[in-house]
Amino acid sequence: MLNNHLINILLIEDEFDQRQLIKAILEAEHYQVTDVDNGELGVKLLEKKDFDIVISDWKLPGINGNQVLEQLKQSSPGTGFILITAHSDASHAINIIRAGADDYLPKPFDKNSLLFTIKKLVYSRQIESENNELKRQVKHRSKLLDMIGQSSAMNKLYQRIEKAAPTNATILITGESGTGKELAARAIHQLSHLNNSPFLPVNCAAIPESLAEAELFGAEKGAYTGAHKNRIGKLESAHNGTIFLDEVGELPLLIQSKLLRFIQEGTINRVGSNQEIKLNVRIVTATNRALLEEVEKGNFREDLYYRLNVIPVVIPSLRNRQEDIFPLIQHFIKVCCLENNMPIKQLSAPALKAMLAYSWPGNVRQLRNTVERLTLLSLENTISLDDVDELELHQANDESNFILPQQGINWEIHEKDCLLQALSHCNNNRTQAAKLLGLGYKAFLYRLDKYQIS
Ligand SMILES: Nc1ncnc2c1ncn2[C@@H]1O[C@H](COP(=O)(O)OP(=O)(O)OP(=O)(O)O)[C@@H](O)[C@H]1O
Ligand SMILES: [Mg+2]
Repeated sequence: MLNNHLINILLIEDEFDQRQLIKAILEAEHYQVTDVDNGELGVKLLEKKDFDIVISDWKLPGINGNQVLEQLKQSSPGTGFILITAHSDASHAINIIRAGADDYLPKPFDKNSLLFTIKKLVYSRQIESENNELKRQVKHRSKLLDMIGQSSAMNKLYQRIEKAAPTNATILITGESGTGKELAARAIHQLSHLNNSPFLPVNCAAIPESLAEAELFGAEKGAYTGAHKNRIGKLESAHNGTIFLDEVGELPLLIQSKLLRFIQEGTINRVGSNQEIKLNVRIVTATNRALLEEVEKGNFREDLYYRLNVIPVVIPSLRNRQEDIFPLIQHFIKVCCLENNMPIKQLSAPALKAMLAYSWPGNVRQLRNTVERLTLLSLENTISLDDVDELELHQANDESNFILPQQGINWEIHEKDCLLQALSHCNNNRTQAAKLLGLGYKAFLYRLDKYQIS
């Protein structure tokens, strides 16, 4: 709790005796008090000086207490406000609080109610500012190296990232979906000497093939139909920073050779231009495909593969580092509660046991989504086994558990339904919906088109 002598109070009261009395009570408790006898003077003082709390009479000559409050909300919304009022009926009190006052004191009030009201306000302000500070820290940390997990696999990963980050080497991050590839790419950028420059993530799977070249390398006005003005490509936008080419395995072969050229020579040409542009861009890439297999199939250039994979960073799947599950759950509960202004919830022992026993095929992303849902949906402060059971986490299996009914099914209705459900689960994020169904992005788009799902 703050010391009273650090708390500045502005007292606005026109009646001399009343003002002197309140001031004396407050000063005896070591509050810093400035007193004025009218609202105009009070408002002027508020513009010049910061106060923690304003205590104002409602009925004043000139502008009244409500008008002081209105001004206060504009000039210093962080200052607390207590209104002294002659009415003690509840409807009046509701109006005062609705207008933005923190509390009110109906006349006549005694010394104890005055001091209690102030203490209550100081306390709630303090909690609020601590909460804001925590939220700020959580946000800041999540921007930085917010990788949770102290398993030996994760510690090896941190060592690899710390070694790789300060070099200029191109990095290929591999790992199953949801393991934290993007988080690792951000950590690499933050730990590199480029950390004051942009980090630009590009999802290669989401760029239509016909636009990929312009998207990455830029295009001159008129270079293709629809190019009404010069277009800056992603690589140019990332100049002096880091570009993160996510799902790099999805790049068309033509773009792969252009990327290779950029890595070898450090220059690009915008589409439709002969002018070479020299760029300084750190390239970090990621894939959850077995890229070497794609090389063997002829879908990915071998020379590019070796250029990208100068430093391989492999993110372990969650089922191979079970000891990280609990700290991750705790972290996600805390973040979720803070973001939603809720008291921090707990997880019951049986609920934790069930979560630890699960294999998390969607890795940390699935764990995070599950924890968020549990935190928001559970009615009690402790998340129970029933809450977990309700989510019906199914064990992942290489074999499908689906049993074809005797009477058969209508395949197309079933397929369309799966597509729609996947989109709905992923808030219409197509990349993630495709992953949920174990489909490549293009195969997924093909099916959306087939059923005319927009
Ligand atoms: N070690 C970790 N600590 C804390 N949060 C993590 C960790 N790993 C992943 N996350 C969180 O899990 C989610 C998924 O992570 P991210 O997007 O980096 O995964 P990804 O491997 O790129 O997935 P995808 O292959 O589906 O693109 C994000 O919300 C991320 O913040
Ligand atoms: Mg990703």
